[in-house]
Amino acid sequence: MAEPIGVGMLGAGFIGMIHSYALRSVTLAKTRPPLLPELVALADLNAGARERCAERFGWSETGDDWHAAVQDPRVGLFVNSAPNHLHLEPSLAAARLGKHVLCEKPLAPDAGTAFQLWRETARTGVAHQCAFIFRFIPALRLAREIVQSGQIGEVLQFRSSYLMSTALEPGQPMSWRFDRAVAGSGAIGDLGAHHIDQARCLVGDIEAVSALGKTQVPERGGRRVEVDDAFVSIVRFRNGAIGSIEGSRIACGYGHTGRIQVDGTKGSLKFDVERLNELDIADGVNSGFRTIQAIRAGHPFADFMFDAGIQGSHPIGWAECFVHQMHHFLTAAAGQGSVAPLAGTFEDGYRAAEVCDAMVRSWRSGQLEAVRYRSIDD
Ligand SMILES: NC(=O)c1ccc[n+]([C@@H]2O[C@H](COP(=O)([O-])OP(=O)(O)OC[C@H]3O[C@@H](n4cnc5c(N)ncnc54)[C@H](O)[C@@H]3O)[C@@H](O)[C@H]2O)c1
Repeated sequence: MAEPIGVGMLGAGFIGMIHSYALRSVTLAKTRPPLLPELVALADLNAGARERCAERFGWSETGDDWHAAVQDPRVGLFVNSAPNHLHLEPSLAAARLGKHVLCEKPLAPDAGTAFQLWRETARTGVAHQCAFIFRFIPALRLAREIVQSGQIGEVLQFRSSYLMSTALEPGQPMSWRFDRAVAGSGAIGDLGAHHIDQARCLVGDIEAVSALGKTQVPERGGRRVEVDDAFVSIVRFRNGAIGSIEGSRIACGYGHTGRIQVDGTKGSLKFDVERLNELDIADGVNSGFRTIQAIRAGHPFADFMFDAGIQGSHPIGWAECFVHQMHHFLTAAAGQGSVAPLAGTFEDGYRAAEVCDAMVRSWRSGQLEAVRYRSIDD
């Protein structure tokens, strides 16, 4: 029997709207989650944004103070959709009150803060998930299974690019995304964090990076910009594999484009975020690539919204990935499954943040930088 759970959320901007959609839609899944979200408290400083979100998705109470959403006794689960510098304090306050926390990526503007959020939240015993949405993309979920099965052999190389043109738009004002004190970094934390997490899922932990950043627009709205509009990096994994990760918010013509490739000793995989449900696979040295559909009977998401026979190989969209992510978190919050390894925990958020920090350090120092991870007892 599914039980209701009150949800509080901070941030009714771009991603807050998508989480609201997921919170509403997840109750309609054929496989109902064990906890059914009730949208009780939404906080956002921007009255227009929060009223639009509340009206569209049915949040019952709204306000400008996140403390009220966190402290509301009806709230058992907190979604943090705020800018990066606001991930620590509200998430930790919610966790300390015993509320399960889903927090956006990057987990914090810097690794030290991300570490604090992971360690302190873990001590409370609540379920915690960092919203690495790429883990819920059907083709990437399948790619992970293929790599883990040994089908493509030992992984030798990882290659990814995440390209957007959002920061090239003429006359764009200063926003929190370009403010180092709020965001931590630019394209590195915004886009790179997703692909760093995928690199960890598909290959393993990264132990060294060398990166270059580029600030194309040094001043926005009369303020100096200190974060990267684009970056390129090369990485070395602990298991000896090598890789490259690049990201840009100034790549002309690209809306939301991402490519991820993994080369192994027995085969290779290629993925493009414009094709969420398709994976290109090479089975041998001279096999060339064939395209496989990720969604088919047996895929964990095939039978989710509709019967597998109906869902069949029909594609799953970007917004549905968020529904699956929410379903996973509600199941973990109910104690009927664990966040890891399918989804990212705050520890995963912290480990990605260490790589982001090392990329920024390398850009500044011009050196290869080691990535050092702290243990929770540090
Ligand atoms: N998982 C993904 O694919 C994905 C995509 C986009 C953004 N994000 C992450 O989500 C977070 C939010 O990004 P966004 O694109 O929704 O940003 P946004 O600017 O669209 O929305 C942020 C909202 O937070 C509100 N806000 C800011 N300070 C506040 C405060 N002190 N109190 C209350 N409300 C406050 C703003 O008014 C705004 O409505 C970021 O951490 C970002 O990295 C993740």
